[in-house]
Amino acid sequence: MQLTAIGHAGLQVKTDQATVLIDPWFSPEGAFLASWFQYPDNHHLLQEDILEPTAIVISHEHLDHLDPWFLAQVPKHIPVVIPAYPSPVLRNKILKAGHRPIVEALAWNSVKLADDLEVFFVSEESPMNHDAAIVVIADGKTLVNLNDARLSPSQLRSIRTKIGGTVDVVTLQGAGASWYPMCYEYSAAQKQDLSRRKRLAKLNYVARVIRILEPITAVPFAGPPCFLDPELAQFNREMEDGIFPDPVQVADWLATQRIVQTTVLLPGDRWDTVSQSKQADPTWSNFSFGDRTAYLEAYAQRRAAAIAAVFDRYPEPTESLWEAFRAYFQRLLKMSAYFNEKIGMRVGFDIVGPGGGQWTVDFRPGFEDVYPYISECNYQYRFASRWLPPLLSGELPWEDFFLSLRFQASRSPDVYNDHLLGILKFASIDALEAVEQYEKSLDAREQMTVHSEGKNYRVQRRCPHAGVDLLEAGEVLPGGILRCLGHHYEFDLESGKCTTGNCSALKTQRL
Ligand code: FES
Repeated sequence: MQLTAIGHAGLQVKTDQATVLIDPWFSPEGAFLASWFQYPDNHHLLQEDILEPTAIVISHEHLDHLDPWFLAQVPKHIPVVIPAYPSPVLRNKILKAGHRPIVEALAWNSVKLADDLEVFFVSEESPMNHDAAIVVIADGKTLVNLNDARLSPSQLRSIRTKIGGTVDVVTLQGAGASWYPMCYEYSAAQKQDLSRRKRLAKLNYVARVIRILEPITAVPFAGPPCFLDPELAQFNREMEDGIFPDPVQVADWLATQRIVQTTVLLPGDRWDTVSQSKQADPTWSNFSFGDRTAYLEAYAQRRAAAIAAVFDRYPEPTESLWEAFRAYFQRLLKMSAYFNEKIGMRVGFDIVGPGGGQWTVDFRPGFEDVYPYISECNYQYRFASRWLPPLLSGELPWEDFFLSLRFQASRSPDVYNDHLLGILKFASIDALEAVEQYEKSLDAREQMTVHSEGKNYRVQRRCPHAGVDLLEAGEVLPGGILRCLGHHYEFDLESGKCTTGNCSALKTQRL
C-alpha cells in the first residue's frame, strides 16, 4: 500500500488493483464561504490520475473533507463510500455535486473496494457528532485515518482487535475544526489562554491515540487551514499558539512526549508502507510552515477572485428578512421538545445590514416563540445580513457558516450549549430523535466513585459534555480534578464545575 498526501486531510491510497481517494479537498474557493484554504496549496496535484480513482471515501460533511467542487470534476460512475449517519446531511451534500453511486456503510462493516483493499468506518459514539475514523486494509497493511474523529479508548482498542495485527500508519489531526474561542466576545488575553488550552487538549488526545494504537508511523495532517480573505487574516495567528497547530508543531510536541515515530507529509509526498520510507514532492524543497508571511501573501493574491465570487453569489438583501426568519424558527421550534428543553434559553440574532434586524428565538418549554426584538437573551449571534438568506433556505448549513468564522457570538452564562448547535446543524426530526434516544439511553443516574487526595466522591458516570464513559475515559489529576479524555474538559470534584471550558457541571457529591 502506498499513501500520497493530497493536501489537508486528503489521502490517495494505491494498491495494485485500486486507487482510493480519502477526503479530497481541492476547491479553488477553499471551504466555508472562502474562509478556509488548503495550506499549503495542493493545486499542482489536480491531474488525471487524481480525477479517476476507483472510489472516493469521505469521513464526514465538513467541507474541508467533503468537497462538492472536486466531486463535480470526477466521472459520475465513481462511487463515494460514506459512514451511515442518522442525518442525511452528508448524503445530500454529495448529491448536490451530481448523482452518483453512494455506499453508506454501517460502523465496523467492511466494504471491499478491490480484491486487495477494504475499508470500514468507526463513528463517534454520540450521534450528535458526525465524525468517523476510516480504517483501510490493503496489501496486508493497515491505515487508521482518525481525521477529526474523537474515538473512545475502547473503540481504539477494538480497532486493533478487529484488524488483528499491527497498525502501519495512523493519520490524525492536531488542529480541530472550531470557531471557539476566536468568534466569542472575550478579551484578547482570555482568547489567547482559551486557544492555548484547546490546542493542548487536542495534542493530548493525539498522543493518547498514538499510545493506544502503537502505529509504526503517525502522520499529523489536516491543517492548519489558512485564511486568505484579508478580513479573516488575523486567524492565521492561531497557528502560533492557538487551535491550529501545523503538522511540524504537532510532531515536535509529540517528540517532547517521547513519541518520535512521526512523519510529516506535504501535498504530493508519498509514504511507502513496505519500505517505510518517504518520497518527497520537490515542490516543497523551499517551503517552511514557520516562514509563512510571503507564502500567504502570494497565495491570497491567487485566490482574491475566488473570494470575491463568493460575496457576489450572496449579495446584500433588498427586503426585510424578518418574515422568513420567523417562519424558519417557528418550524424549528416544533421539531423536538427534547432539544428545546435542553437549549432552554432565549437566543438573540443581531443581523447587521440591509434586510436585517434584532430578533429573539425563545427555546424555553412553554414559551417557544420568535420576537422582533432582542431581550433577555443568554446567547447572541451577530453577522451580516447577506449570509441569512442561504442559511434560511438550507443552502448554507449553519455549521458551515460558523466554521467560516464570519460571525461573532456572546453568551451569559458562559456555558457551551451543544443542543443549540445540534438543532441548527441537523434541523431534521430523524437526526434529532437519534440524539434524543442516544442521550436518554445513557442512564443519567448511573454513578461511579472517584478517589482523590484522600477523599471519595460519587459522580455521574457519563461526561456532561457529550456522554463519554468516565469510568473508562476519566483521569483523576492532582488538586481534585477529574479530566474527561473525550475532549479533555476538566471538572472540579468538589463543585462539579468545568474548569477548562464552558461545559455544564458534573454531578458530584463528597462521600
Ligand atoms: S465527552 Fe467531551 S469532554 Fe467529555
